[in-house]
Amino acid sequence: RRPIVLDSDPGIDDALALQYLLGTGLWDLRAYTSVGGNLPGDVTHRNARALARALRIDADVPVHRGAGRPLTRLPYAAASAFHGARGLGVESLPDSTAARPAESSAQALLRLSREYEGELTVCATGPLTNVAVALLEDPAFARRVGSLVFMGGAARVPGNVTPVAEFNAWTDPDAAEVVLSSGIPFTMVDLDASHGWLLGPRELAALESAGPGTGLAVRLLRFYLEAYRSHGGGDSCPLHDPLAVGVCADPSFVTLAEGAVVVECDSELTRGQTVFVPTAAQRVHYAGSPALTARIRRTGRVALGPGPRDFTQ
Ligand code: BDR
Ligand code: CA
Repeated sequence: RRPIVLDSDPGIDDALALQYLLGTGLWDLRAYTSVGGNLPGDVTHRNARALARALRIDADVPVHRGAGRPLTRLPYAAASAFHGARGLGVESLPDSTAARPAESSAQALLRLSREYEGELTVCATGPLTNVAVALLEDPAFARRVGSLVFMGGAARVPGNVTPVAEFNAWTDPDAAEVVLSSGIPFTMVDLDASHGWLLGPRELAALESAGPGTGLAVRLLRFYLEAYRSHGGGDSCPLHDPLAVGVCADPSFVTLAEGAVVVECDSELTRGQTVFVPTAAQRVHYAGSPALTARIRRTGRVALGPGPRDFTQ
């Protein structure tokens, strides 16, 4: 089993991502690192601990506390409309009784990148604040990480928090820009891909009949489906964060293209927009933007849509 860290702001689909990761049996989860995002950092951290307990991993997997606010911005705009007032629908799971690790999320990421140099997968399903803090502390983190797969951004489709920005990139655009310009080997699982794999009542019914162990996931998904329905999403919901976990093991869940991603950090109107510059286009001289010409050399992989393998099966 391969070493992985899940960096997350639970969050309903974050909780589903953790369950899915554990369910695959493919991964050695070395740490579960929380970050503020869907709700403030103290709430997402408590949810992460409670989930670790509910899924019976809290004796083995340390749950680290992460950034309590974005790198340079004011505290979070809560996403309670989609995740519930406390972040996990209407669940109120008891806190874990496990000891609280002394290391922060960023410190745990740094240590594990040394212990598993070149091998560690980091899957981030919230704003990239913790990963950015690790990079600001030690830029060599970028070359020690084997692979960073993150849910965030919208390369070609409209955003989900503003017309141009996806929630995680919008929440901490400065962190996203630090990460995407660092040279870290990244795969961006963005709205282009996650809106391609939707879960509806039929998939929910299949999950429900799959066995008694699915109760928590089914209750969370019912809440999430209803939230999407009441916000104009119709009869289905995107599986944003679980898809990122899926891509860690099998990139064929999405269609990937190589290129750079530059994040808008200055404009209030287009804050968090992820501008995708395909490698194939880089021979073009960006006469209008010398800064962009210099910046686009740090490339990674970007999901431009769903892939050949069906993620909802
Ligand atoms: C992302 O925003 C959050 O609300 C979800 O958990 C997901 O990580 C989707 O834009
Ligand atoms: Ca999330």
